[in-house]
Amino acid sequence: MDPDILLLDEPLSALDALTRAKLQDELEAIWEKDRKTVILVTNDVDEAILLADRIIPLNPGPRATQGPSFAVTLPRPRDRAAINHDPAFKALRAEVTNYLIEAGNLAKKENAGAQRAAPNVTPIRVKTLELPKAYLQAAASPVTRKYVEIFEVKKTFATPKGPLTAVENFTLNMDKGEFVSLIGHSGCGKSTVLSMVAGLTPISGGGIILDNREVSGAGPERAVVFQSPSLMPWLTARENVALGVDRVYPHATPAERRDVVEYYLERVGLADAMHKRASDLSNGMKQRVGIARAFALSPKLLLLDEPFGMLDSLTRWDLQEVLMEVWKRSQVTAICVTHDVDEAILLADRIVMMTNGPNATIGRILDVDLPLPRTRAQLLQHPDYYRYREEVLQFLEEFEHGAKSAASNTNATTSIKRAAHG
Ligand SMILES: Nc1ncnc2c1ncn2[C@@H]1O[C@H](COP(=O)(O)OP(=O)(O)O)[C@@H](O)[C@H]1O
Ligand SMILES: [Mg+2]
Repeated sequence: MDPDILLLDEPLSALDALTRAKLQDELEAIWEKDRKTVILVTNDVDEAILLADRIIPLNPGPRATQGPSFAVTLPRPRDRAAINHDPAFKALRAEVTNYLIEAGNLAKKENAGAQRAAPNVTPIRVKTLELPKAYLQAAASPVTRKYVEIFEVKKTFATPKGPLTAVENFTLNMDKGEFVSLIGHSGCGKSTVLSMVAGLTPISGGGIILDNREVSGAGPERAVVFQSPSLMPWLTARENVALGVDRVYPHATPAERRDVVEYYLERVGLADAMHKRASDLSNGMKQRVGIARAFALSPKLLLLDEPFGMLDSLTRWDLQEVLMEVWKRSQVTAICVTHDVDEAILLADRIVMMTNGPNATIGRILDVDLPLPRTRAQLLQHPDYYRYREEVLQFLEEFEHGAKSAASNTNATTSIKRAAHG
């Protein structure tokens, strides 16, 4: 085939970040050779900047319109890491991102206006922005330092080829109310760690303590949000959240429980949709229910495993803000697994970077000293932002070629604490 024009519709969106990066490079190499005319549809601003001569955002529909054209004048070849030093890259990235955020907000406002005008909609208003009483009681604890202690945790799987130690020597303490992002390449063992902390996978060595009690087995004081929330499709959003809540607050009155459920559904932006059946919700809305459900359980520890990995980047940005907003109010201790560098920085007090498996462990810990609360638009303006970004990207790049080569130049058993100042 020798087409005149190549049309690519999100060809890489479903892949993990590392594979995506590799294929982006290949795509560019092929394009360089033939200089075919290409139209690439993408939801990833970085992908657009790396590959394109021009970026044209689409304003959200109904009746979608074409936004302004952003010329990408960065010299080729464009190196994913080096580009972080380029002021032109930072400026363009901020410009396109802000354009998309604003176009998204505008569309949301218009749609919300349409909803308000419609009949049969009775939005449920929360009387107060304060956290429900039942929630506050359940969340109380005198322990603040070392609220979570993960000590030399190890996981060995039995495989047909013999035992495989996926994770070892994983040691991490967390204070109450801390938010940690756990980042690493696909397959390094992030989910394994999270699943052990959740009590869903037994540990093969070491120990995990939460609020002075050893973790053994799953329990409602550790809420987990997965990539796709497992909702009961025939129940409404409200009923799905209520399921867990009714079990967690046995001493609360039905009215108090209802308050908890509705408070969180409202916080995640589902006040008007809480009576819809889960099967009628979009993926983004389902994930909102998953987040509301997790917070409504008043967990001591909130565990998120690539919660936005399946969503397009604009929905992902929305939900990251929702997550930050809800988290800010509840200050629940949280670990969020991600392979998205921007997400890791946006959300976390600390970024824990994992080496590649087998025998994966913590390779580096980065304190994130960016002001809270954060918005994506503010971060893109912050002078330190790209330093954090580069630090994490650099770590991931070191491990791109597997554990063996990287193990020699990184101390894999001690965590190196670094602040990215100066
Ligand atoms: N039940 C299992 N049996 C055998 N190997 C497993 C099992 N679960 C995970 N693994 C292996 O452990 C490693 C880490 O997997 P995982 O924690 O899912 O990685 P990540 O979440 O970072 O992508 C992978 O090599 C995976 O194949
Ligand atoms: Mg995983």
